[in-house]
Amino acid sequence: MRVGILTGGGDCPGTNAVIRAVARKGILNYKFEILGIFEGWKGLLKDGLIRPLQLNDVSGILPRGGTILRTSRTNPFKIDNGVALIKENLKKYKIDALVAIGGEDTLGVAAKLYQDGIRVVGVPKTIDNDVMGTDRTFGFDTALNIATEAIDRVHTTAESHNRVMLVEVMGRHAGWIAIESGIAGGADVILIPEKTTFVSEICNLIKRRHNRGKDFSIVVVAEGAKMKMSPESKDEELVLQDKKLDSFGHVRLGGIAYKLAELIEAGTGYETRVVILGHIQRGGSPTAFDRVLATRFGVHAIDLIYQGQFGNMVALQGTKIVPYPLSSVVSQIKTIDPEMIETAEVFFG
Ligand code: F6P
Repeated sequence: MRVGILTGGGDCPGTNAVIRAVARKGILNYKFEILGIFEGWKGLLKDGLIRPLQLNDVSGILPRGGTILRTSRTNPFKIDNGVALIKENLKKYKIDALVAIGGEDTLGVAAKLYQDGIRVVGVPKTIDNDVMGTDRTFGFDTALNIATEAIDRVHTTAESHNRVMLVEVMGRHAGWIAIESGIAGGADVILIPEKTTFVSEICNLIKRRHNRGKDFSIVVVAEGAKMKMSPESKDEELVLQDKKLDSFGHVRLGGIAYKLAELIEAGTGYETRVVILGHIQRGGSPTAFDRVLATRFGVHAIDLIYQGQFGNMVALQGTKIVPYPLSSVVSQIKTIDPEMIETAEVFFG
């Protein structure tokens, strides 16, 4: 059997560990031929982006960040004859089945291609941890640790200068990195996309803390956090860096903390500074947790291919890796449980 493997969407620490596991078990245990498809779905739409992967190609990549297969945010359903081209290329390269490693967009495409008769298995990859059906996506733990360390570091400088520091983390529709790094780092306020917050309330929480004798505060804000000025305001303010859309229709986020900093300074009178972690959260070597999870995902993904269980994604449920239907993955985003939000709020202000 010839199995193609591709990585789509934002890169993510641990991706190379999945590729290594798929190739190793595929080649050694199942005698499969593994083909690397470069730059996500683009690799199946253009010439020259498919090459065989040998054991040596995946040796030494376990701790390496990024993806040796490169990535792109290409949506074949937005391209004329996209699906037909994919089918043509699968035929041309005699690819019998695909492993698609990605987040909601890449897995969404995989789910639709499966409906179209393509034999595909998915692996949930995103630092955002917002894929339905799995307790964890690989890459999240690494991003969480980077954000937590940043919050720890920001504490000492905030304290020295009597400042409010805003730490902006990634998280478009779900605030997993914000809430968990905020809890782990002891943030005084955490803002997430799941719950609209009022600037007036944020200022009151910070003032309450400072009135207790604390001269600094740390606010963690997810890039997709939703804010209104006060409960009376009508319009939700989603501050955007620009309005350009990618091929999945997403606006580019980032920078909401700058707007919030102005509002906090005006509302509290405390000097406020901003740190945007951005792509630092996605770069570099995966944590041990992510290396293990990614390896388990890769091994189970190639097992699903061998067993003919196409149309599934590998998922972590409890301590087990299980198959989960791709069709259920795409119906919604996995958002934070209200219980977790209540726990975080105990430490606000
Ligand atoms: O998809 C994961 C993610 O990290 C989002 O949280 C973020 O909005 C997006 O990627 C940014 O990706 P890029 O800058 O690569 O477009």
